[in-house]
Amino acid sequence: MIELAEATNPLDELQAVILTWPVRGLQCYMCAEFTRVREVNDASVQDSSEPPIRVVLGSDHGGLSLKNELAQYLTSQAIVVTDLGTHTADSVDYPEFGAAVGRAVAAGDADFGVAVCGSGLGICIAANKIDGVRAVTIHDVTSARLSREHNDANVICLGERLIGREVAKEALDVFLATEFEGGRHAKRVHSLDALITQQM
Ligand code: RB5
Repeated sequence: MIELAEATNPLDELQAVILTWPVRGLQCYMCAEFTRVREVNDASVQDSSEPPIRVVLGSDHGGLSLKNELAQYLTSQAIVVTDLGTHTADSVDYPEFGAAVGRAVAAGDADFGVAVCGSGLGICIAANKIDGVRAVTIHDVTSARLSREHNDANVICLGERLIGREVAKEALDVFLATEFEGGRHAKRVHSLDALITQQM
């Protein structure tokens, strides 16, 4: 039994106090709850040893500023970021950068891609030309979630000239945190991927 004087952390301290309570049933219930909380805490400590998410970013000049801001934002969350450019405001063509992001994701060099241009459209078309890429242009958080749950999207495309910065960040957070549901959606996603190989 933990003695109050021996308690080294707040959880132990509380448990020691509860063990002095006169109502036995409540005492047992609270101690069982503490054991459960400890187990959950231990599990989350183990989870933190999981490898970090790897994200590759790319943009044309029209998406440069948002791409840079998102790269910083992700880095601040301990996500491993690779920035494929563009790196200056000089006019460049979005197909090059959309394809580069798509290739990195398809090759397994990154878990997810972020592609930004002025509208989020051209760069998305480019990324989708790469076998294994499921790129989506996103304007809101709900679409970001659904694109992961139902479509197993692996590249999120954003339009710097159309989307607010806070919405872009929240949509990106949700996109990266949401798991594919699988089940009935898995067959459809396989059919999507097969469309490219059928044309080869
Ligand atoms: C560049 O001016 C612009 O056309 C491009 O960033 C993108 O919006 C294309 O879809």
